[in-house]
Amino acid sequence: MKKIVLVCTGNTCRSPLAGVLLQDLLPEEKEYLIESAGISAFPGQRAAEMAHRAARERGLDLSTHQSQQLSDEMVREADLILTMTVSQARRLRLSHREESGIIYTLGEFIGRTEIVEDPVGEDLEVYRQTRDQLEKLLKAAVERIPEFFSQAGDYSDSKNYNKRRFRMKLAIGSDHAGFPLKENLKDWLKEESVHEVIDFGASGQDSVDYPDYARKVSRAVASQEAELGILICGTGIGMSMAANKVKGIRAARCQDCYSARMARSHNNANILTLGDRVLGTGLAREIVSVFLEEDFAGERHQSRVDKIMQLEKEMKD
Ligand code: RB5
Repeated sequence: MKKIVLVCTGNTCRSPLAGVLLQDLLPEEKEYLIESAGISAFPGQRAAEMAHRAARERGLDLSTHQSQQLSDEMVREADLILTMTVSQARRLRLSHREESGIIYTLGEFIGRTEIVEDPVGEDLEVYRQTRDQLEKLLKAAVERIPEFFSQAGDYSDSKNYNKRRFRMKLAIGSDHAGFPLKENLKDWLKEESVHEVIDFGASGQDSVDYPDYARKVSRAVASQEAELGILICGTGIGMSMAANKVKGIRAARCQDCYSARMARSHNNANILTLGDRVLGTGLAREIVSVFLEEDFAGERHQSRVDKIMQLEKEMKD
């Protein structure tokens, strides 16, 4: 029996709704125990009236719901925790480092940056929108849940946060100047992480043109064949310039860990570019680790990233 805990702030609107929706969507109820809780809940509160009504319209019942505070014990016993917002997930990961590999926002669990806003105090129409959004996200989550548990099982006794993270497909590529670092990072990632690495070349140190490899990796990321990409040339500059010409790509050239963290958390970068002639192997590995571990923070950064993508659209016209 796997325990899935849905988490919001007060456990009176979003997470109870998500709980009954998920219960309804999961095929074999006996395999899963669904609970909901709040990060800052007043225990014993009934679900909000509008949440009730939105649930009832789907034939679901929230009349017996009583809010509860998410306890340390609940986190420890959970097999998967899904939050509504990025800040909830981050807060939980910080306070429960050991369990951080099973904590996701509902959106990121299914590979999206979407968050579920709090409808508290709003009218029924807003609650309906929240219910419909939750339903859409949970339908996609139900598809991934069996895969998640089969992978989590492989690493269940690992204390390594990275090893308990959801497996990603990574696209890697370089030109001749970046080839040695590419090979080094590729071997290291295969050894040290759970991620699958797809190598798009180059295959040696004979002179080649970096835009050709930027193109391959960028297209793999843009088409979602891979979740994130790593491109290496002599400086990381040419790769970043070329990758950023591909629609949907936000490539960041990083030479330090802080930039790598911010590139993911603020800019939602989907490709990291590195300079083999600039970085030592140790620093390059650290930068890659940070880039892969960090999540997009969403919220105020989402609208800024949306504006970047809007620029791209304008330029295409
Ligand atoms: C190749 O000599 C070099 O120009 C290339 O690897 C890269 O640094 C371009 O930005």
